[in-house]
Amino acid sequence: MESEALESSIIESTMLGDERGHLTVIEAENTIPFDIKRVFYIYGTLSNIRRGYHAHYKTRQALISVSGSCKVYLDNTKRKTDILLDSPTKVLILEPNDWHEMYDFSSDCVLLVLASHLYDSADYIRDYDKFIEVYGG
Ligand code: TYD
Repeated sequence: MESEALESSIIESTMLGDERGHLTVIEAENTIPFDIKRVFYIYGTLSNIRRGYHAHYKTRQALISVSGSCKVYLDNTKRKTDILLDSPTKVLILEPNDWHEMYDFSSDCVLLVLASHLYDSADYIRDYDKFIEVYGG
């Protein structure tokens, strides 16, 4: 089942277009509800690969499939859902307590990630039991 419960975490940005093609704008203080400290992008992922498998203590993220498509499985201990990112205008906001797994990457998928904190391996919760201990109940 695609997104339903977590729809509030999806922001639709506008596609600005003219005869030359399309343009979509992400503005730090307007579109994204946190200060962007880091940008990375995931690409060249094989379609049978599932990655992520973690939550965070502090980091908030915005995911945009700027090319192609992929799916994101989310679990915040209360709700689990699968969200299809198939448009460069769709911005999925992940809270620190969203356990996430990305899968079903199209061969042309470029998944852009904007993050609220610099990379810090100590901010990752990679063990699901630990995730439930921290955020469950
Ligand atoms: P990883 O967290 O395994 O990716 P995913 O969550 O998509 O499965 O990251 C892959 C590698 O890249 C890992 O060695 C950590 C490193 N990395 C950084 O150095 N900086 C970063 O900002 C990110 C996201 C990852």
